[in-house]
Amino acid sequence: MSVPAPAVSESFRREVERRRTFAIISHPDAGKTTLTEKTLLYAGAIELAGAVKGRASQRAVVSDWMDIERERGISITSAALEFELHGCRVTLLDTPGHKDFSEDTYRTLLAADSVVMVIDAAKGIETQTRKLFEVASRRKLPMLTFVNKLDLPGRDPLDLLDEIERVLGVSAAPMNWPIGTGDRFKGVFDLRRQEVLFYERIARSARRAPVTVTGADDPALVDLLGEQARDELLEGVHLLEAAGTAFDLDAYRAGRQTAVFFGSALTNFGLESFLEALVQYAPCPGLREDAEGNLVDPMRQDFSGFVFKIQANMNPRHRDRVAFVRVCTGTLTKDMQVVNTRLQQNVRLSRPSRFFGRDRETIEEAFPGDVVGLVNPGRFGIGDTLYAGQPVVYPPIPHFPAEHFGALRLQDVRFKQFDDGVRQLEEEGLMQVVFPIHGARYPILGVVGALQFDIIEARMKEEYGVACRVEKLSYVAARWVEAEAGVRLTLPNNVLSTTDRQERRVLLFPSEWDLQFCERENPNVRFLAMA
Ligand code: G4P
Repeated sequence: MSVPAPAVSESFRREVERRRTFAIISHPDAGKTTLTEKTLLYAGAIELAGAVKGRASQRAVVSDWMDIERERGISITSAALEFELHGCRVTLLDTPGHKDFSEDTYRTLLAADSVVMVIDAAKGIETQTRKLFEVASRRKLPMLTFVNKLDLPGRDPLDLLDEIERVLGVSAAPMNWPIGTGDRFKGVFDLRRQEVLFYERIARSARRAPVTVTGADDPALVDLLGEQARDELLEGVHLLEAAGTAFDLDAYRAGRQTAVFFGSALTNFGLESFLEALVQYAPCPGLREDAEGNLVDPMRQDFSGFVFKIQANMNPRHRDRVAFVRVCTGTLTKDMQVVNTRLQQNVRLSRPSRFFGRDRETIEEAFPGDVVGLVNPGRFGIGDTLYAGQPVVYPPIPHFPAEHFGALRLQDVRFKQFDDGVRQLEEEGLMQVVFPIHGARYPILGVVGALQFDIIEARMKEEYGVACRVEKLSYVAARWVEAEAGVRLTLPNNVLSTTDRQERRVLLFPSEWDLQFCERENPNVRFLAMA
C-alpha cells in the first residue's frame, strides 16, 4: 500500500529530483578512498588540496580524520560528503572498507539510494565486495561498477564481467571497453559515444582530447592506436555485440543489472564519463518502506527521516555527539519541532548541520536524500524515526549479533570519564555492553569484529583521556533471555549471566554447543540473538 502524497511545490519537487545519495562499497585497497578523493576534486569540493599538500593531508581534509584511521590506513568512520555535480546535489556516504565494520556499513547502506562498487582489475570480486554487495542487493539498490587500476596489469575484461555475473548474480553491462592492458594500456572505447579516450603516461594537464569515431571498425583507429591494439579492440567489441549485455536503465534501477565502467581512479582516467553516468542514471530518492511495509513517498509534504549513525567527538574542541539523519520526506528546517518516535517526545532541531570532515556548517533547510547532522544531547539513538505532521515510523535498524567479547578494565581512576566513554561509544553502535550479575559490575563488550577492541581502547584514551584495556573473554555468542515470570533456567556453570543497561538478562555462551544445549534444556525459554 502506498501513502498518498499531497501536492508539493514545483521547487521542492525539483530539489528532490536533483538529489543523488550513494555509497561506495569495495574490498580494502581496491581504490575507494582514491575514487572518493578524485570525485571530490573533480567536483571542486576540495580545491587542489592534493596537488599542493600530497595525498596524506588530502585524506585528512576529507574523511580519514581520526588519528587511528590514519595510523591503520583504513577508513573507520562513515562520513557524508556533499557536493554539486552537473546540476545535481550529490551526497556520498563513505562506507568503511575493513571486514570488521560491516555493521556500520550496513547502516550506511540503509541511508543510500544507490551504490558504486569498486573492483581492482587485477583481483576481481573479493570477499568483502561480495558481502557488501549482498547487503546492497537485499535492498535492491541500483549499482554502478568501477573496475579500477586499469593502468596496471589486470585480468581480461570479459573474464571480469563473467565473474560479476556468476558470483553476484546480476547481469553486467559494459559502458566502455579497455584497449590493451598494463604496459600496453592505451585507453578505453566509450561504447555509448563511440569515442576513444586515450590514456597517456604524461602530465595530467597535457591529456589528449577524446576522439569520436564511427565505430570500433573505423579505419582511423589504426592510425590512432596501431594495428594490434585496434584488432584487439575490434575483437572485443564484436564479442560484446554478439554476446554482451546492453545497458538497460530499468534493469539497473531495479538492481538486476550493473553498469560497468573501466578506469583508473589514481590517474583520473575514465572518471569524468563515470560521474556523468552517475548523475544521469543513479536514482533520486524514491519510495521507502515504513515499519509496516507501507511505501512512503519522498514528495510527502511533512518532514520525516531516521538516524542511521551516531558519532561522538567529531570535533575534539566541541566534544559533542552528532546524530546523522537521512531525510526521507518533506523539508527539514532549522528550529522545527519534530517527534522522536522511540521516545514519543518533541525535539527542536535547533542547529541542523552539514559536515565536511571536521568542519560543520549550520543549514536552514534540507531535502529528501540529504544527510543532516544533529548535535545529540543523548536524545537520539540509531534507528530513531523523526517526523513532523503526519506520523510515520521507519523500520528499526538491527544490531548484528556480537561474536567477540572482552572485559573492559580501567587502568587509572578516571571513573566518570570511563563511564561516559563506554556509554557514548555504545550509543554509536560500536559495541554492545553488558554487566555481570554476580561480583564486580565491570563492562563486558560484545563486538562483531575483534579489531574493534583496539579501536575502543584507542578512542577511550584519545577522546576521554582514560587508560583501559580489553581483556578478551572466551565467549562466542550472547542471547537475550525471554521467559514467563517464574520460569527457572537450567544453565551449565560456564555460561555467564549478565544484564544490559535496561536490566534485561543476557547470557554469554562459550560455544555454540553450550548454546544449543541450553536451548534444548530450557524449551520454555526464548534465546534471542538481538535485544
Ligand atoms: P581503499 O580506500 O579501497 O582501501 O583503497 P585506496 O584508495 O586507499 O587505494 C589503495 C592503493 O591503491 C593506494 O596505494 C592507491 O594509491 C592505489 N590506487 C588506487 N587507485 C589506483 C589506480 O587507479 N591505479 C594505481 N596504479 N593505483 C591505484 P598505496 O600505495 O597503498 O597508498 P598511498 O601510498 O598511495 O596512499
